[in-house]
Amino acid sequence: MVTLRALALDDAEALTRIYSGASVRYTTGKPLPLDQAQEKIRTALARAAETPRAQWSWGILSADQVIGLIALRRRSPGMGTISYILRDDAWGNGYATAATQQAVAFAFSTAGLERLEAMHHPDNPASGRVLAKAGFTPTGTTDLTTDQGTVVPYETYAIQHRTS
Ligand SMILES: CC(C)(COP(=O)(O)OP(=O)(O)OC[C@H]1O[C@@H](n2cnc3c(N)ncnc32)[C@H](O)[C@@H]1OP(=O)(O)O)[C@@H](O)C(=O)NCCC(=O)NCCS
Repeated sequence: MVTLRALALDDAEALTRIYSGASVRYTTGKPLPLDQAQEKIRTALARAAETPRAQWSWGILSADQVIGLIALRRRSPGMGTISYILRDDAWGNGYATAATQQAVAFAFSTAGLERLEAMHHPDNPASGRVLAKAGFTPTGTTDLTTDQGTVVPYETYAIQHRTS
């Protein structure tokens, strides 16, 4: 249904579409201009070349179109975090869940991680459903301070690698 592939510089325009409208309401709060999208991809490519590798950023593809972005970051030797964002016109098709399941499988196999964590804005329950459907369980909340100084209790989740 969806496939993940490494980002390329050509994806910058698709990224500006992903980071717009409803998709940025509970994430960055603002649209992403083309130059910042290019910079974001350059950073992702540079991080992909690091040894040991601590970050994987994939484009989420549906029908050959980049409709979202998902990233895995190693935070300590055994622990990583997952984040994702999809174009608002691609929501409601199970794409984020499918992409998260693929990233989790990669994290527990190729990346050798034991535990993954993720969080979402409290007003964005769809993201909590995505995490639950991908096998995460709620662990509580963590307070994040916005650029405007407001404290928001983000909902936190985790999943542990099960070998049996
Ligand atoms: C979260 C996001 C990725 C969802 O993508 P998606 O492809 O529509 O997700 P899926 O279709 O895989 O699953 C969505 C689930 O949420 C449910 N849902 C949708 N809106 C909802 C709402 N308002 N309240 C509760 N559940 C909701 C859907 O019914 C579905 O669950 P179901 O299969 O049990 O019916 C998308 O909303 C997004 O990009 N948001 C901004 C970025 C973000 O918040 N990222 C999370 C932080 S890392």
